[in-house]
Amino acid sequence: MKYCFPEDFQWGVATAAYQIEGAWNADGKGESIWDRFSHIPGNIRGEGDGDDACEFYERYEEDIRLAKELGIPLFRLSINWPRIFPEGTGTVNRAGIEYYRKVLECLKKNGIKASVTLYHWDLPQKLQYQGGWMNRQSADWFEAFARTCFEAFGDLVDQWITLNEPQSTAMGGHASGGHAPGIRDYSSALQVVHNLLRAHGKAVKAYREMGLTAEIGIVLDMHMFYPVEEGNPADIRMARLFQQQTNQLYADPIFKKVYPQELFEYLSGRRVVLPEIQEGDMELIGQPIDFLGLNTYWSDYVRYDEERWPLQGKMVQQDGFVTDCGWEVVPEGMYDLLKWVHAEYHPKQIFITENGCACNDWIGADGKVEDPNRINYLKQYIGAAYRAMEEGVPLKGYYIWTFTDNFEWAWGKTCRFGLVFVDYKTQKRIPKSSAYWFSEVIKNNGFEV
Ligand code: FCB
Repeated sequence: MKYCFPEDFQWGVATAAYQIEGAWNADGKGESIWDRFSHIPGNIRGEGDGDDACEFYERYEEDIRLAKELGIPLFRLSINWPRIFPEGTGTVNRAGIEYYRKVLECLKKNGIKASVTLYHWDLPQKLQYQGGWMNRQSADWFEAFARTCFEAFGDLVDQWITLNEPQSTAMGGHASGGHAPGIRDYSSALQVVHNLLRAHGKAVKAYREMGLTAEIGIVLDMHMFYPVEEGNPADIRMARLFQQQTNQLYADPIFKKVYPQELFEYLSGRRVVLPEIQEGDMELIGQPIDFLGLNTYWSDYVRYDEERWPLQGKMVQQDGFVTDCGWEVVPEGMYDLLKWVHAEYHPKQIFITENGCACNDWIGADGKVEDPNRINYLKQYIGAAYRAMEEGVPLKGYYIWTFTDNFEWAWGKTCRFGLVFVDYKTQKRIPKSSAYWFSEVIKNNGFEV
């Protein structure tokens, strides 16, 4: 079987500032909620933190050169907010602006397009002191940050992304507490959802007002939820509610200007406090966007469980492959998700802004890093995406998570997702066999299986 992608299909790699840059307090940078969170013992597996990460801050030229050598046409990166505004708002740190301009210019010089995410989770700690995303004002703070970035980098950016995975910020950061700022309060998480979406809307509105022309969109992390037992009504209902909680809670307001009613009614009956919605909010959130970015890695299988809160369901792992971080490999889920998103929301364009696989990679005796499992994963997932595209889904591009191994949030450095191996003791980079494989895919604009 041969997968031949359309000529204008865009291939890329995705990264995030906190996960690669290091230099956590260099050149006037303020503290972020992830700096604070990762410095608390017990929060990060392996007791690591992102203080150095893979030193992209110092090594960006080397890494971008390597990306060029591998023929990577598109590089997704994010801007660390407290590098630009150490206090969150107010005075701009010129060194932060200069740094990102240098990185973006370096990409341009190497003929690589830049996709820039404004928020990939590094909220300034100073803003957390004021409640962070729980504070309604956060949308204004974000708009000011966004405007500054649009103005400072607009001439060098090919694609803008407002937020990366508001679901992770809201639920991981405020309900489960496994991510910064480490709060465990589901009702607050719902308020965070609403403020994040308002922040997104404000940024898009500001962008249009400023007359910039590159495309702008948002990245949502979505995946399919299937009932464990196909004919079991309780499992089916729970799978539907989880689907609403993870996917529709974000996409419905953006594309339909409403929140999922079934979910909200259910949550009200579970003593959850629903978000405070003011007049004009839904209109603001529903600003037209140019594309939807999807981060997707796995699928879940839901079993009804009366004891769980707020949703009465639990995930049951199925027989089959899991990646090194325990995520189930379900390429079919990628296909189903794309078809569902297209049917439900009709975004003008869809990008897979992240997909990839954690493997237990090591350097072989010959100095090479072979990662056949990652290649296998990618073939299956890209193949599934291709099938959806062939059936009419407007899929325009695909980014692999990620370029180099990096600081994987709560997993620290114990989880390797990169196409390029990083030896953290020496910071040496070694392209894995998947990097060479991907390079060929790009060159041939497809692959054969
Ligand atoms: C996504 C995040 C990204 C990375 C991958 C593995 O949820 O957006 O930063 O950690 O997971």
